[in-house]
Amino acid sequence: MGSSEAILQVFCGAAPLKQFLKSDLMYTPGSITKCKKRSGSSVIRLFKCSSIFRNGHTHRRFPTAPSIPYENFKNGKFDRSSCKCQNAESVRGFTAEDANGTWFVDNAKQFNTVHDMVNPPNLLDSEDVHGLKKEKEEVSVSDNGVHDKMQKTSVDMIEDEAWDLLRESIVTYCGSPIGTIAAKDPTSSSVLNYDQVFIRDFIPSGIAFLLKGEYDIVRSFILHTLQLQSWEKTMDCHSPGQGLMPASFKVRTVPLEGDDTATEEVLDPDFGEAAIGRVAPVDSGLWWIILLRAYGKSSGDTSLQERIDVQTGIKMILKLCLADGFDMFPTLLVADGPCMIDRRMGIHGHPLEIQALFYSALMCAREMLAPEDGSADLVRALNNRLVALSFHIREYYWIDLGKLNEIYRYKTEEYSYDAVNKFNIYPDQISPWLVEWMPNRGGYLIGNLQPAHMDFRFFSLGNFWSVVSSLVTVDQSHAILDLIEAKWADLVADMPFKICYPALEGQEWQIITGSDPKNTPWSYHNGGSWPTLLWQLTVACIKMDRPEIAARAVEVAERRLAEDKWPEYYDTKKGRFIGKQSRLFQTWTIAGYLVAKLLLADPTKAKILMTDEDSELVNAFSCMITSNPRKKRGPKTSEKTYIV
Ligand code: GLC
Repeated sequence: MGSSEAILQVFCGAAPLKQFLKSDLMYTPGSITKCKKRSGSSVIRLFKCSSIFRNGHTHRRFPTAPSIPYENFKNGKFDRSSCKCQNAESVRGFTAEDANGTWFVDNAKQFNTVHDMVNPPNLLDSEDVHGLKKEKEEVSVSDNGVHDKMQKTSVDMIEDEAWDLLRESIVTYCGSPIGTIAAKDPTSSSVLNYDQVFIRDFIPSGIAFLLKGEYDIVRSFILHTLQLQSWEKTMDCHSPGQGLMPASFKVRTVPLEGDDTATEEVLDPDFGEAAIGRVAPVDSGLWWIILLRAYGKSSGDTSLQERIDVQTGIKMILKLCLADGFDMFPTLLVADGPCMIDRRMGIHGHPLEIQALFYSALMCAREMLAPEDGSADLVRALNNRLVALSFHIREYYWIDLGKLNEIYRYKTEEYSYDAVNKFNIYPDQISPWLVEWMPNRGGYLIGNLQPAHMDFRFFSLGNFWSVVSSLVTVDQSHAILDLIEAKWADLVADMPFKICYPALEGQEWQIITGSDPKNTPWSYHNGGSWPTLLWQLTVACIKMDRPEIAARAVEVAERRLAEDKWPEYYDTKKGRFIGKQSRLFQTWTIAGYLVAKLLLADPTKAKILMTDEDSELVNAFSCMITSNPRKKRGPKTSEKTYIV
């Protein structure tokens, strides 16, 4: 523990940020979509496609095609001539909507998965299968070359299937690809909102397309979600902040007002006002910024990020995140379920995942903000926050054996500016599991820090992304990977990767999750295994030049993913079962796998997602560490001050 309290005045600014933003953030609707507010008890935001599609003879409301037939999307190019807005009957393989608005499926639909192709169902009885297996084993023992070749072929087939499925998940809007549906599971009778395009779920899809050189869908996604950001959103008469990005959106086909014979497509976003639990998607805007930068780096087309509306979008997100509040910490204060874990899981306050994405988005935004007179204050505020945030996380979220022992011996109730135990953590909080679990070598960032509370759970995404974004030091980054290796049996086991470890059980589960039956111990968000996390793990491993760790995890996943039909998540301590309520053909499982494979094949491409620590920040950081811990409290300046 280096320093005690320091008042941060690293990058000094003069004019208040608010003033700058107010004058600068006049939004001009783009030319692509137009918005209409509809009458009714609640506010509905509908973004209309400018073109109108005639529906043929009888007018009937039909669900928007969640994807285009694969044959219309070849070599990454959408064949416009053969695709029109069609009704459910004319679109092959689509689900239809019943009178209640729920979706039903054609059970006779063939899966055509790699597994089905390799093991056609009902063709062999179990003895034959046994014999075949034995035969296979003998072949592999007798001829390694043949075995390797067979293995490669089957891996290639898995990848081919993944690409086919990813393309089938594409959602179009006014004839052009705009995103990917969350899941296209023909076995599930309750769709909920899995038929929508989720911002966070699209990130691995978008990266996969970028890595393939297919940029248009990403560009279109960025621009359309930008249109959604700026619109009015209300929950029971309350409007959340203006820079908020939706959690998801749906392309709906609705009757054209005043014309019974025509329909039009509209974008209908959900900012959390319809989501289960009404959770605010804080991560959406942060991922949007990260994807925007990746798009520019990958395609070389920086004209997108330079557009005035895109620059305004970045500033609106920053304004929302950097707004003054009551908080003493530089970390972003949020309500429960604001990210990938979008149910109550005791992550309210300052959860690590949000902090890592926040830091990453600030770094990316700093790179993309156009240098102009008006943005100097914003950049200054951003730099201040970056330094304070990295200091805070590196110092107070970090835990390893040594630090644990330090906490174990903490004095409490220290009233002073230079207290060692600043957050008044009672050593009794150290749970018995952690004493056993912490390896001699390795460490990690804890899940959350609040006054008198350290959430010691290991949250994977936050730790991976802290490595990717350089929120942690190089040593800490290696230590995180060391811990992953040391705790492989708990974090990877039969399916990578545990979303968090360990699970909440018993009374803790009752109180913290509100007895959530979806989040029972070792299921879903509560210690379930999520294959989509493979891609973030891969970027972190590549950054630290240890790709073999990710390759090992991919190999574990590859044994089951296609065979299990690409589940959303797995349950049990070792990830042995497909999750209780897991969707099949979950798009970010498919895309996460593809991104991991593509990056392992060409690790240099992972650069589009990484940010390196810059020397200015390192200097500011070391100034803080060496600064006089008993620094006098002076009169308040106009600068923001944080507990750092
Ligand atoms: C679940 C997940 C969330 C994901 C969504 C769509 O709600 O918790 O992270 O974005 O499903 O897949």
